[in-house]
Amino acid sequence: MEEVERTFIMLKPSCLDRGLVGEIISRLEKKGLKIIQMKFFKMSREMAEELYLIHKGKDFYEKLVRILEGKRIVAMVVEGRKAIEVVRRMIGATDPVHAEPGTIRGDLAMDLTDNLIHASDGVESYLREYKIFFSEDELQTY
Ligand code: CMP
Repeated sequence: MEEVERTFIMLKPSCLDRGLVGEIISRLEKKGLKIIQMKFFKMSREMAEELYLIHKGKDFYEKLVRILEGKRIVAMVVEGRKAIEVVRRMIGATDPVHAEPGTIRGDLAMDLTDNLIHASDGVESYLREYKIFFSEDELQTY
């Protein structure tokens, strides 16, 4: 189907600390998204800087990188019809205060910088972001 696309998702370290990995994966699966690849990573400073390149220089950048540096995250690529938009809607507004109840951040997060989950905001970001964590070969196995 033409509209089927993939998106990149990162479960931030607080998901692991709080034992929310299963809850979030379950929501994605129940929605009907297909998990194409999924792995744990210990984030290096370089990986965090690469992922958040576009925020470099902003006042929250250092705090953002520090939340990830040296910590474990779950990186995944999921697929589905209009997956980029679907996942962004499921995770809710960046600031959990404004995230609607029913969304992942709306239901499970309070902090702005440590807002549990990241997902690509467009095709270009997806193509840049997944490559930080996965090789093309790894995404061909499904
Ligand atoms: P994320 O979806 O991972 O994309 C960029 C991240 O930067 C965002 O979630 C938040 O974790 C963080 N962020 C964005 N805006 C702010 C802000 N104003 N103050 C602190 N952190 C922010």
